[in-house]
Amino acid sequence: MDPRPHVALIGMMGSGKSTVGFWLAQSEGLRFVDLDAAIEERQGRSIQEIFQNDGEARFRDMEQSELTECLTSEQPLVVSCGGGAVLRSGNRALLRKRAWVCWLRASIETLSRRVRSGDNRPLLGEDPVADLIQISDARAALYHETAHRVIDIDGLEANQVAERIRLIRPQQTAAR
Ligand code: S3P
Repeated sequence: MDPRPHVALIGMMGSGKSTVGFWLAQSEGLRFVDLDAAIEERQGRSIQEIFQNDGEARFRDMEQSELTECLTSEQPLVVSCGGGAVLRSGNRALLRKRAWVCWLRASIETLSRRVRSGDNRPLLGEDPVADLIQISDARAALYHETAHRVIDIDGLEANQVAERIRLIRPQQTAAR
């Protein structure tokens, strides 16, 4: 059994994890899981609604159980994690153990161009740039600790990032 069959994409909201993950999975013939979309589908409501009605802690529980379910599956897949999936140490350990983890690192300029407040992003308030700076600073060490590789995505299109990942990812996570 391959101990690390999966590819996981981590990074801040707006770093393009979902689009890159989709392209990567397509080109490699792998199953694709977008963690936020999987939670929304299971819950039958948006991330925004979950945060509003149940609070962040409950959302993190859902995120952890969804991540665990997908990373414990034997079928190799590409998973795009929500930006905060690295907050729990159990998630970080599981990610490193079961996936080859790539951090899509972006500047605040890139992130803020791509992200708008109210855009199903409950952690961003009146001043999304200030929020992005604060969240990014608070999480940088966690992304660093969790990732096997880092890709700086500023100035790259999603398909270029996906191509880069294809070139650098190790063989044991290749499709079987
Ligand atoms: C979050 C990022 C979001 C989503 C939720 C919380 C975060 O996912 O999981 O709003 O804590 O950074 P994306 O990174 O896909 O936007």
